[in-house]
Amino acid sequence: MVAGDVPLERLHRLVEQAHQECYIANSLRCEVSVQPTFVRMPAYAFGDSGLAAERLALLAQVFDTPSRALITKGAPRVPPLALDLGCGPGHSTRMLAETSQARRTVGIDASVAHVEAARGVAPELEFVVHDLTRTPFPLENADVAYARWVLAHLPDPVGRARSWLTQLAPGGVLLLEETERIETTEPVLIRYLALAHDVVAARGASLEAGPLLAVFDPSPVGEVVRNDVREWPVALPTAAALFALNLRVWGSDPAMPLAADDVASLQAVLDGLAASDDRRVVTWHIRQMIMRSAM
Ligand SMILES: C[S@@+](CC[C@H](N)C(=O)[O-])C[C@H]1O[C@@H](n2cnc3c(N)ncnc32)[C@H](O)[C@@H]1O
Repeated sequence: MVAGDVPLERLHRLVEQAHQECYIANSLRCEVSVQPTFVRMPAYAFGDSGLAAERLALLAQVFDTPSRALITKGAPRVPPLALDLGCGPGHSTRMLAETSQARRTVGIDASVAHVEAARGVAPELEFVVHDLTRTPFPLENADVAYARWVLAHLPDPVGRARSWLTQLAPGGVLLLEETERIETTEPVLIRYLALAHDVVAARGASLEAGPLLAVFDPSPVGEVVRNDVREWPVALPTAAALFALNLRVWGSDPAMPLAADDVASLQAVLDGLAASDDRRVVTWHIRQMIMRSAM
């Protein structure tokens, strides 16, 4: 199983080297032939299908209030250019545009499908396909950049945030929202969360990027203005609906440790909880950070 953009030739070379140095292979007297099968994992586990977009629409509704509060607190008034980094199908971009009142708002995402969907969701805004692990961005330096639940999917979130700060105009702000932890007593949801963690970790990323960012010192490229954890209670059936949509997207991911039957059982239980009138809540602890560029 291969994560990342490794050329096939290099993979074959590494397998050959491992084989040449393998103690067991070297102790055999017979001819050994190695025929590897490489399974490539898409870099972003949560996909860009219609289902993935549906989940992001629900996510946008559920977390609208705390996200707007962060943008209101952190963004300058009527900035000339606002960027939504990892915009998905455009719900967070529209929220950023409405809340900041930016003169120009541009959503950036690596997924062509999400960017096309975003152009349908918010035709008045601009969208660009670009891999956010690469700088410079194909735009002029922004006055505000906002990223919600994107660093959770990228290896080295602190390094990424640092490089994003360099893409801002002097004094520009970077607003980040990432999960610190998700608190629930429901065993099925706890099980789901452990699987989600594993699927993302197989890409070298951390679904709970909040604790990694908590200790981030961006000097000399910037400074932290605010670093808070906001608690946001979500009705358990709504949380289960989000998780059920997710599992449909990555239930057959190469990094999924469960057998297909077990995934189907978990799916059925999540669907049941989503349709229930369970009165419990699941509490998201969301790290919200405001940083200012020093460049
Ligand atoms: C969990 S979604 C969040 C979408 C949006 N920010 C929101 O809050 O609704 C993560 C988004 O990051 C995008 N993404 C992941 N890796 C990326 C990369 N390397 N460059 C650009 N976008 C990326 C995905 O395509 C997806 O749209």
